[in-house]
Amino acid sequence: MRFFERVVLVTGGARGIGAGCCRVFAKEGAHVAVVDRDASAAEEMAGSLAGIHTAIVADVSVEDQIRDAIDRTIARFGRIDCVINNAGVHPPDTPLEKMVPEKVMDVLRINFLSTYTMCYYALPHLKKTRGTIVNISSMTAVLGQRNSTAYAASKGAQLSFTKSLALECADFGIRVNAILPSNVDTPLMRDWASSLPDPKAALSRIAALQPIGRMADVEEIGRVCLFLATEDSSFITGQGLHVDGGASLDY
Ligand SMILES: NC(=O)c1ccc[n+]([C@@H]2O[C@H](COP(=O)([O-])OP(=O)(O)OC[C@H]3O[C@@H](n4cnc5c(N)ncnc54)[C@H](O)[C@@H]3O)[C@@H](O)[C@H]2O)c1
Repeated sequence: MRFFERVVLVTGGARGIGAGCCRVFAKEGAHVAVVDRDASAAEEMAGSLAGIHTAIVADVSVEDQIRDAIDRTIARFGRIDCVINNAGVHPPDTPLEKMVPEKVMDVLRINFLSTYTMCYYALPHLKKTRGTIVNISSMTAVLGQRNSTAYAASKGAQLSFTKSLALECADFGIRVNAILPSNVDTPLMRDWASSLPDPKAALSRIAALQPIGRMADVEEIGRVCLFLATEDSSFITGQGLHVDGGASLDY
């Protein structure tokens, strides 16, 4: 087992990519802190995994709730070996002139400031374990996305933060990396498709954006997180790993 009796905290762990991470790490012997604002889904996820895990209800856009999530993870398991900053939202497609600055702040708070704040409170604990941080950014961080300026900017912030924090953390033996997925089959993706006139056609179009012809499965992203959290990736830090089925090629 590649994460036996080590502890991973996954934000947005109840559904989608976060759920994929929880399942992959639990199979490798980890204790998982499933942090999510959806209480019943978080309980259900923690309860569905073999082994000893905990569900923590927290809204990652609220600093006190992030601090509390860290404190409760330490109280329960005594250590943190990896933090996966995954919780995030994608607002509906909106051109800049219709996206008021206040709404942009909401997106930044959930998608970026949460990552910063989680690292702020987790760092003293990660120093003790020489742990790792994995931030779930997005391909939009480097390629942009039409009618999604706020979202893409929040993901770009996660990526540049990853690189800068990796520099600060190298002396402590802590590695910090980001994953840039293209399209992953999650509730977020399906909710977006169902808001369109022809959801099935939209999902087929999205699948075809990847040269390998499909979206990623959530556990495929979870396995990349596991790689970045273990010694298998011991010489990788400060990177934004494209996990995109080739979607960024052949533009
Ligand atoms: N699905 C994709 O194609 C895709 C592609 C690139 C990047 N991403 C990124 O991956 C991450 C996860 O996306 P997903 O598709 O799995 O989303 P999802 O909506 O399917 O699941 C997100 C989970 O995060 C939780 N969450 C949302 N806001 C929260 C908050 N403020 N506090 C605590 N929990 C919160 C939700 O309750 C849910 O359980 C996001 O950061 C997203 O930007 C997704």
